[in-house]
Amino acid sequence: MRYAERMGRIASSASFDMLAKAKALEAKGQSIVHMGIGEPDFDTPAYIRRAAEHALAEGYTHYGPAAGLPEFRALIARTWKARRAIPCEAANVVVTPGAKPVLFFAMLATLEPGDEVLIPSPAFPTYASVAEFLGARVVPVPLLAERGFDIDLDALRARITSRSRMLVLNSPHNPTGGVLPRATLEALASLVQRNDLWVVSDEIYATMVYEGESPSIATLPGMAERTVVVDGFSKTYAMTGWRLGFGIMPVKLAEHMAALMNNSNSCTATFVQKAGEAALSGPQDDVTRMLAEFRARRAVVMEGLAGIPGVTCASPAGTFYAFPRIDGTGLSSAELANQLLSQAGVVTIPGSGFGPEGEGHLRISYANSQENLREGLKRMAGHLAPLVGR
Ligand SMILES: Cc1ncc(COP(=O)(O)O)c(C=O)c1O
Repeated sequence: MRYAERMGRIASSASFDMLAKAKALEAKGQSIVHMGIGEPDFDTPAYIRRAAEHALAEGYTHYGPAAGLPEFRALIARTWKARRAIPCEAANVVVTPGAKPVLFFAMLATLEPGDEVLIPSPAFPTYASVAEFLGARVVPVPLLAERGFDIDLDALRARITSRSRMLVLNSPHNPTGGVLPRATLEALASLVQRNDLWVVSDEIYATMVYEGESPSIATLPGMAERTVVVDGFSKTYAMTGWRLGFGIMPVKLAEHMAALMNNSNSCTATFVQKAGEAALSGPQDDVTRMLAEFRARRAVVMEGLAGIPGVTCASPAGTFYAFPRIDGTGLSSAELANQLLSQAGVVTIPGSGFGPEGEGHLRISYANSQENLREGLKRMAGHLAPLVGR
């Protein structure tokens, strides 16, 4: 049978590939410490699970509107206006099964083949994968590791052409944990307005900031009308498996996105949206508690990495990732990640999985208990000590 040519242009993710390899080893009885996948290890808070049970009992088992339940869209708009100062109304919000569909649909609705998409890199692999799938050209823009993975504005300016159509931002940033400073966002806002670009601003880690703030570019003057804010419940509320996300965007784009939802998913599961309503309107103590635990884990990871030969790491300002340099080991990131998995039983993600600009790094996820992280870091040190010889 024949398959569409475009299927050769969509990628699988390094995180899911490493997870599959790790599961195969676990199935053979090998002990594995997971520092790979970006998934909170916490259970979804009990009040959110109870709200879903209640919604099912109340009959939220039918189709809903393609763009989301009106009361939920309105609550998201009110909450993001209050929490993040993003100017929006219910009509700007589209609810989707996870944040990923917002990325997919935003590109589907705005990009033509041959358009150029500027992506600060290393980056979450879905951005480049979807852009290339749609026939757009990915233009990587290097991040400055020595400045907390800030965007290199000169490099960005030099890469803008008459075909540039979109800039993708992700702050706090996967895989580096970097957070874009307000001054960078201001410079970016004037650049994208001058060049009439769309901005896709992935803010899914917005609550996970340990130093300073992570404002949204959509709050800056003239930006809401050209920005798609991507956000969701997976990380902040430990709801990865529920599939609940949303985008905040100009009304016309929201209408296009609703049409894409209608033709693909019909709608996001209605009882899941009711659980999302409870998540936002209930007490936020669980979020605060999880965040405090991530902060403590960050300290464990930084302390552990400091003792590993050949590895150096600056403290990440946000997310639950660290992105240490590993060039001191003399190995490529894929060689090291594969060795750590097969010989030491530790899952990490090679930096090259986030684009060639990620080479020379490993991504460590600290969405695991402090005890497991200590064990994983001990195994890493044990593996690298004889190799690096310090
Ligand atoms: C930067 C970034 N954006 C989006 C997503 C996808 O989130 P969701 O599970 O809500 O689709 C992830 C998940 O790892 C992510 O790291």
